[in-house]
Amino acid sequence: MLTTLAVQNYRSLRDLVLPLSQLTVVTGANGSGKSNLYRAMRLLADAARSGAVAALAREGGLPSTLWAGPETIGRAVREGSAPPQGTVRTKSVGLRLGFAGDEFGYALDLGMPTPGEDSAFNRDPEFKRECVWSGPVLRKGALLADRDGPVVRTREQDGAWGREPHRIPVTDSMLTSFADPRVSPEVLVVRERIRSWRFYDHFRTDADAPARQVRIGTRTPVLDHDGGDLAAALQTIEEIGDRDALHTAVENAFPGARLSVRVGEDGRFELQLHQYGLLRPLSVAELSDGTLRYLLWVAALLSPRPPKLLVLNEPETSLHPSLLPALAALIATAAERTQVVVVTHARPLVQAVQAAADDASLVELEKEFGATVLADAPGVLDRPVWHWPKR
Ligand SMILES: Nc1ncnc2c1ncn2[C@@H]1O[C@H](COP(=O)(O)OP(=O)(O)OP(=O)(O)O)[C@@H](O)[C@H]1O
Ligand SMILES: [Mg+2]
Repeated sequence: MLTTLAVQNYRSLRDLVLPLSQLTVVTGANGSGKSNLYRAMRLLADAARSGAVAALAREGGLPSTLWAGPETIGRAVREGSAPPQGTVRTKSVGLRLGFAGDEFGYALDLGMPTPGEDSAFNRDPEFKRECVWSGPVLRKGALLADRDGPVVRTREQDGAWGREPHRIPVTDSMLTSFADPRVSPEVLVVRERIRSWRFYDHFRTDADAPARQVRIGTRTPVLDHDGGDLAAALQTIEEIGDRDALHTAVENAFPGARLSVRVGEDGRFELQLHQYGLLRPLSVAELSDGTLRYLLWVAALLSPRPPKLLVLNEPETSLHPSLLPALAALIATAAERTQVVVVTHARPLVQAVQAAADDASLVELEKEFGATVLADAPGVLDRPVWHWPKR
């Protein structure tokens, strides 16, 4: 389980260290930085698939995603007697992302490239530092793999540093370009953990949405991001997953209703909802946006192949408030099998999740001088200890 998530200099997340539990609900007012946190976690996951540099480019490049405020917020600014001013930076600017659990920790530090030969790609961000360590906090003695620019050092079996440093490209994460199970099995373990993280965000439910199309079904233990394989995913849960939880989830939301999947001659799967009081089942094209979106969450949350971490962004979108307790119960069921982070600004969902799972922890974000900080509300966990690798 992850116990800590740390972000520095990513948009409004100037310096945020979050405590995570088995089920964490992250909330806060509009603009407090919830979506930024969700995106930062996705970026971390992209790094393990060698997609971090490309993902940053899609967001407008590293300079635009970096914290746009001053390096430090002085007393005059805090007291309101002066506006924030840019000063000469004393530290190098880097986008830093990391996490730790009881077993392992990982951190990366991306920065602007060192000026070199003439190339059109001179703006590509570079990995400056990357570390994998054992235990919850980065310490010199706990380092297992340590990257400084192009050079990676790893710990040998006997605990000494390997004599031959390895060289890798500065635009690739060591998780992808240096994952040799014989030299450093831990790097591989960390990479596979991160790769198993799953993110779901705003399913489309309009008339042309992938989830409304009837298509060939194959066994689907993991719902696709666009929900296009919804019927197959629900049928997979029915056949090899937690069928009782599936029926409970439908009954909780739509009392008396029943799901079925009609398989056509040509192998196309059509999802149908039999509702109390209707003479024929409604097909997926006829379901309301809220109903369809709820069923998408059912398929995502009851996956027969749960990931190490499941992150949900604003799952309440377009759901009627009466469906929130059912959604919260589903989230609590999922959290029994996988670690879950729910990002939401809907107070009723926060309350429903807390009612459905007594061990759910709450993280509240707020803005302080433009930077996202942890609000110290009652019952909120403290900021965990965290150290970044130094450049
Ligand atoms: N590069 C940057 N530096 C500093 N702040 C930034 C930067 N880019 C965006 N922001 C700030 O981040 C905030 C947006 O945060 P975010 O989208 O995460 O909010 P949110 O909590 O998801 O809000 P909502 O509930 O409205 O979706 C804005 O206030 C914006 O000013
Ligand atoms: Mg948002």
